[in-house]
Amino acid sequence: MTNKLKKADIIFSEYSVAPYQILKETIKKSEDDVIQELLDSGLKGRGGAGFPTGLKWKFGAAEKGDVKYIICNADEGEPGTFKDRKLLMEVPRKVISGMAICAWATGGTQGYIYLRSEYKYLIPDLKKELEIFKKCSNEMGLDFPIEIFIGAGAYICGEETALIESMEGKRGEPRNKPPYPIQDGLHGKPTIVNNVETFASASMVCRYGAKEYQRFGTSDQRGSKLFSISGDSPKEGVYELELGMSIASFVKEFGDGDTKAVQVGGVAGFCIPRKDFEKAIVGEGNTSGASTMVFNSTRSMYRVLHNYLEFFEEESCGQCTPCRIGTQQLLKGLEAVKHGKKPAEYLDQLVKLSETMQITSKCGLGQSVTNSFTTIVDNFREEMIY
Ligand SMILES: Cc1cc2nc3c(=O)[nH]c(=O)nc-3n(C[C@H](O)[C@H](O)[C@H](O)COP(=O)(O)O)c2cc1C
Ligand code: SF4
Repeated sequence: MTNKLKKADIIFSEYSVAPYQILKETIKKSEDDVIQELLDSGLKGRGGAGFPTGLKWKFGAAEKGDVKYIICNADEGEPGTFKDRKLLMEVPRKVISGMAICAWATGGTQGYIYLRSEYKYLIPDLKKELEIFKKCSNEMGLDFPIEIFIGAGAYICGEETALIESMEGKRGEPRNKPPYPIQDGLHGKPTIVNNVETFASASMVCRYGAKEYQRFGTSDQRGSKLFSISGDSPKEGVYELELGMSIASFVKEFGDGDTKAVQVGGVAGFCIPRKDFEKAIVGEGNTSGASTMVFNSTRSMYRVLHNYLEFFEEESCGQCTPCRIGTQQLLKGLEAVKHGKKPAEYLDQLVKLSETMQITSKCGLGQSVTNSFTTIVDNFREEMIY
């Protein structure tokens, strides 16, 4: 880990040559070389799970079939995350280039941008950009149509298999895995789903090369990443930062001088108290989600946790019992302790329940509730009790 916070300028770098120049230059190479470059770069998915992008593309390329889908996950439903919107507004060409490079390298035949329904206002500009892309890619001899699909308006539809279900016109509920979308995705065809930022970063790896990209970050966490910063920060917004920094250096730059906790990786991530600020903001157990919420000493951590649990209870798709009932019971239990109807020790049972949910829930939503629940209850216990 490097203790320093360094602003990076890769994704938002000025790169104003002819439209789709990165794509044009990339397809002069061999598909295998480009996938190898991505593997070497160490780029990991920016949608939260952190799966190596080169590996996903390699698996995708190995799948047989005359139809393959490439989906850009722009559902962006994690509370406190707003970086994909900025990418689509400011550098859509880099995102679309990444999708097209992925299609070219893996044999993708049709692309979709699964757009969060609240981002409908982006459609006119995105459509204009897709027209430019169509013209340029046709001139390059590529046939890769990209359409926009309006999201179904639920947090769970950002989970890749629920997203696919919703695109097939069904209720947005996660599928059992395996099979993974790469083998059996949209309409039963091989499907690569990547986050908006992942595609933009992939096109930058192709532009600068793996070696240059590796100069940023640490051996475990390569490159730069966008952070959506909100809460008690005088500098709320989206920042591109080099990976590997400690939370302490982040707080020094973005806190208000009175930071008592930082929520890293959104509500599905961890709430880090001041005593642990020396940890890395991504890695060392912390997830790679973008949402970074800063809380100062005026904040009630009970209210913060209550708010998260209301969100989880509301957004649980209800398909599996541990998550459907667990989210309700955690909320009820927390309220009972706060109002003196249950003893403080009841919190320990609730922590156990959240840990059971992690093991028994079907998807990342139910599995991740324990992250914020245990870190808030363990570190701010006195704020939870009557
Ligand atoms: C409840 C839930 C919500 C998710 N929401 C998003 C989302 O809004 N955007 C996203 O890219 N990934 C989201 N994911 C992760 C996706 O399932 C998937 O891992 C990701 O799109 C893969 O892209 P990546 O490899 O580029 O990260 C979510 C996962 C879960 C469990
Ligand atoms: S964990 Fe929650 S969101 Fe995921 S399938 Fe089960 S009920 Fe649905």
